[in-house]
Amino acid sequence: MEKGYTASITGIGSFLPKKVLTNDDLTKMLDTTDEWITKRTGIKERRIVENGVTASDLAIEASLRALDDANVLPSEVDLIVAATITPDCLVPSTACFLQDKIGASNAGAFDILAACAGFVYALSIAKSFVASGAMKTVLVVGTECLSKITDYTDRSTCILFGDGAGAVVVQRGNGRREIITTHLGSDGSQAELLMLPAGGSKLPTSHETIESRSHYIRLKGKELFKVAINNMVDVITKTVAENNMKIEDIDLIIPHQSNIRIIEAAMDRLKLPREKAYINIDRFGNTSSASIPIAIDEIDKGGMLNTGDSVLLVAFGGGLTWSSSIIKW
Ligand code: UT7
Repeated sequence: MEKGYTASITGIGSFLPKKVLTNDDLTKMLDTTDEWITKRTGIKERRIVENGVTASDLAIEASLRALDDANVLPSEVDLIVAATITPDCLVPSTACFLQDKIGASNAGAFDILAACAGFVYALSIAKSFVASGAMKTVLVVGTECLSKITDYTDRSTCILFGDGAGAVVVQRGNGRREIITTHLGSDGSQAELLMLPAGGSKLPTSHETIESRSHYIRLKGKELFKVAINNMVDVITKTVAENNMKIEDIDLIIPHQSNIRIIEAAMDRLKLPREKAYINIDRFGNTSSASIPIAIDEIDKGGMLNTGDSVLLVAFGGGLTWSSSIIKW
């Protein structure tokens, strides 16, 4: 636990591309139905970028909105941490493209890759830099163009994913939206449950990798599903206990939007009313590292929380990785 300063979220923003891909649209491309997708995932539609739009492009508007909300100029940002599994390219980082595009002329910039748990990983980095006194203003972004790594011939995965971005500004505590704790975990022995096999040093891009469609994300949905529920229950329970709180002390849970059945099953196991978990998967699908900051922005702009409410963020994804955070609103 760092000594020094407290860290607060002082600005929040998000950006979703305009183009909507509905379940009905997918039924024209694949052997599927709106009923199957809705029942098995809770998703009705997702947003998709136009050709040529990148993860850093989505991050621009989300970041500028968060900076404006915090009343901070881009030149005042000390560090940009971008969580993404769909970087503009492998090198340089998406954070560097964003740094240039928003004119954050005094900022360091790097990406982190922790899949769907990535935003809270990035938030924990921001909290640590601010709490130690090393930095005053950190921009944290979750941004994804998942449509670019989705195989639209694979009906068991392509129904899940959407594009979008969310951002927060983290600064020294101002008594509001204080980041009380962050918790991170991983289990690399289960890496094969969610993987994009080609394009790295293990399997460089080649004609063969393209032919075998190994440049698209693959997941073992059924196995992941079970692990995800157990993990969510476990992480929420431990996070609350480590902060000497009771589960009833949490006013709202903001889970990564992976599948409504995962979230509802976890809430049932925790004996919590389902309404205690924020849901927007019906409109945006799974946007990986962008899902939690997009939800935070909706909740904030919708005035759904009161000052002093305890909010628990919880995420799980490829790696495997998981993360959680408690924020005092
Ligand atoms: O964000 C990171 C974490 N992500 C996750 O944790 C995702 C976890 N997994 C899931 O959300 C679910 O496993 C999926 C939504 C991916 C799949 O749902 P499921 O209930 O596990 O379905 P399934 O893969 O067991 O497939 C059941 C049946 C199969 O047919 P048979 O073999 O029973 O005849 C599939 O072929 O449903 C079939 N199916 C479909 N049918 C219509 C699979 N996809 C579709 C589809 N439309 N889109």
